[in-house]
Amino acid sequence: MIVKLDNKAEIINKINKLKKEKNAIVLAHTYQNVEIDEVADFSGDSLYLSRMAASTDADIIVFAGVYFMAETAKILSPKKTVLLPNLEAGCAMADKINLKQLREFKEKYPEIPVVCYVNSTAEVKSESDICCTSANAVNVVKSLNSEKVLFVPDQHLGSYVESQLDGVKVITYSGFCPIHHEITVEDVNTKKKLYPNAKVMVHPECTSDVTALADFVGSTTAIIKEVKNSKDNEFIIVTEKGVVDRLKRDCPQKSFILVNERAICNSMKLITLEDILAALTEEKHKIEVDSNIAQKALAAIDRMVKING
Ligand code: 13P
Ligand code: SF4
Repeated sequence: MIVKLDNKAEIINKINKLKKEKNAIVLAHTYQNVEIDEVADFSGDSLYLSRMAASTDADIIVFAGVYFMAETAKILSPKKTVLLPNLEAGCAMADKINLKQLREFKEKYPEIPVVCYVNSTAEVKSESDICCTSANAVNVVKSLNSEKVLFVPDQHLGSYVESQLDGVKVITYSGFCPIHHEITVEDVNTKKKLYPNAKVMVHPECTSDVTALADFVGSTTAIIKEVKNSKDNEFIIVTEKGVVDRLKRDCPQKSFILVNERAICNSMKLITLEDILAALTEEKHKIEVDSNIAQKALAAIDRMVKING
């Protein structure tokens, strides 16, 4: 439920007061309801938010995002309290591979390093060599200096990485994000016909036939930066609606067209300002990760965070 305007200012004030009292910060992913940014200390893509979670000296991190993001923050900052305001906020891509399936995949292709997209469970991370996000996947794979890598769970991001590197075979697991997977070439071409001068900005979770139509491919933060620095004025945004909402807010002089009406991650949209207020007031819902799993997952996440770009 989106908060009504008359309540909104009051809720924001209460959140800001509690943040000060409890030395808490709010991290918000780019796909959150845009009003969440009004209480966010940092807002951006998964890589940026992981870095902020690792470097903050706050005692409490409220993660306005999905479960795997809060879990990653907890692994990076185990001594801090990490709160997810709505426990229902999961990720359909992360659910596409579990530990057993990862082990079977590794058995099928032994002795090949495993790159794990952060959109995955802590258990899956714990049996991977290195993590990546959409912002650094190409550099992460390059850093391994391996002719072959296994890439889980996102087949499309894995294929995109392979297309950007000479001589590296990226063997992908069969996972995908339903929101990006369902964006079609026809969706993009329909918008291109209507807006022939618009630049096409694509997230690499899209299928390879969709990324082939892109003027720019990048993470949510990379797309926003590119638009802000561009001399162009019209953009077809081929990712989740939160990116369009933020661009409309930040660049009112430019126009933005969402690729299709279905490009909404309902899970990301579950979190409301009221949930954040309740999370801070009651210090719920605390994210915990088994210490053995967390230790192993941290090695893979840490390796990623140390890679530039
Ligand atoms: P980025 O945050 O890396 O742009 O990825 C988008 C996403 O799907 C996060 O769930
Ligand atoms: Fe997961 Fe897709 Fe939602 Fe991102 S947009 S959180 S990958 S379901």
